[in-house]
Amino acid sequence: MENRGSFATKIGVILATAGSAVGLGNIWRFPYMTGQNGGAAFIAVYFVCILLLGIPGVIAEFVIGRHSGTNAARAYRNLSLKGPWGLIGYMGVFTSMIILGFYAVIAGWCLQYLFASLTAKINGDVVYVQQYFKEFSSNPIEPTCWTICFILLTHFVVVRGVRNGIEKASNILMPTLFVLLVIIVIASCSLPNASKGIEFLFQVDWSKLSSSVIFDALGQAFFSLSLGTACLCTYASYFNRQTNLVKSAVVIALIDSFIAILAGLMIFPAAFSIGVNPDSGPSLIFITLPNVFYQVFSGVPVLGNIISVLFYFLLSLAALTSTISMHEIGTAFFYEELKIPRKQGACIETAVCMVIGILCSLSFGANQFLTEFIANKSFLDCCDYLTSNILLPLGSFFTCIFLGWFVSKKIVKDEFTNWGTLKSTFYGIWIFTVRFICPVLIALIFLRQLGIIKI
Ligand code: PHE
Repeated sequence: MENRGSFATKIGVILATAGSAVGLGNIWRFPYMTGQNGGAAFIAVYFVCILLLGIPGVIAEFVIGRHSGTNAARAYRNLSLKGPWGLIGYMGVFTSMIILGFYAVIAGWCLQYLFASLTAKINGDVVYVQQYFKEFSSNPIEPTCWTICFILLTHFVVVRGVRNGIEKASNILMPTLFVLLVIIVIASCSLPNASKGIEFLFQVDWSKLSSSVIFDALGQAFFSLSLGTACLCTYASYFNRQTNLVKSAVVIALIDSFIAILAGLMIFPAAFSIGVNPDSGPSLIFITLPNVFYQVFSGVPVLGNIISVLFYFLLSLAALTSTISMHEIGTAFFYEELKIPRKQGACIETAVCMVIGILCSLSFGANQFLTEFIANKSFLDCCDYLTSNILLPLGSFFTCIFLGWFVSKKIVKDEFTNWGTLKSTFYGIWIFTVRFICPVLIALIFLRQLGIIKI
């Protein structure tokens, strides 16, 4: 059997896993979800979800992955002597394929914007940019080609193996993206009336709280942390014995949330300043940002173009570090579980994701049926809702039940405490959360959303 490889350095572990977590979920999805759910109240619930459900859930997946050192399905099965627990791994593989499909569409839009800003095609006022977005996203050919391109790019990196591809890329890209985000936040906050956007982000209006806001915040927290797809479990299978799982989980959640807030600070001050509706949906960043680049740097338009090119380049790369992690789940599964050679396994994963990606890409106006797929929601929206709001929380729910109730306590404690190097009081709090708080909270949020209970 081929050597599975592992991450070379401690910082490599953090950066690669953070690379999976940080992506379009933070920069594209977080702002548009916040905008659609009324702002600060959504963010408050989102943070509660990260703290109470996210971090304990991430540690749980890490424990399972590192202990087993194998693909998601086998990892779950190895840890349980009986029961259908391997199905959680199968579900993760399925979920990550759908996510990769629609994610690649948005990543493809980033590539399109990268080239459009190279040729200064998106320099114009709000109405112009809105029109530009509408025309290109409803085109049947262009965005679909970008989607395919992006999936092929992911395929190429994954096939080269863990250390060469994933780790090297993440080490350089993450810090650069961060610096650029800070620059754009400053630019956005310097626009006239920017303070309205900051208020929208931080001044909590509890009257906006509803069960669907809570449900969306839950989905966003899981999506953003890459939690519930067995992605973290797959990555943790490449961790070494010295990796401190608790510290890694906390650092990753901090980086991830911080980037999401930066993305909010980048989008909303600008959106309020130039009059873009915060609830514009998936197109929000693609309409708002070109205007920031265009307006703030109107004195020196070339500078605006350079920043814009750099931004879409780095955003595409951030998306790539996430798509690599999604692709790796399926590839490791086909290779180790179904015994299909790694390269062929990767090809199957790529082919399935491409079909989903193409359907999603055509659901922005190119094809009527896909555009109004269910209840007037596009096929892409449906895939997003199904995975983020339903499959990811369910994946994490079952993981918590499994780890908390069915796995040997000794194994769990040993992994968690790195064989005694960590205070065991933390362990007590964490295992209590995993056994009781996470499953009960997730169940309550689901029941409330379904209207079965009213709390
Ligand atoms: N967390 C990633 C992001 O925020 C998306 C992702 C979800 C990656 C699930 C892997 C698995 O962009």
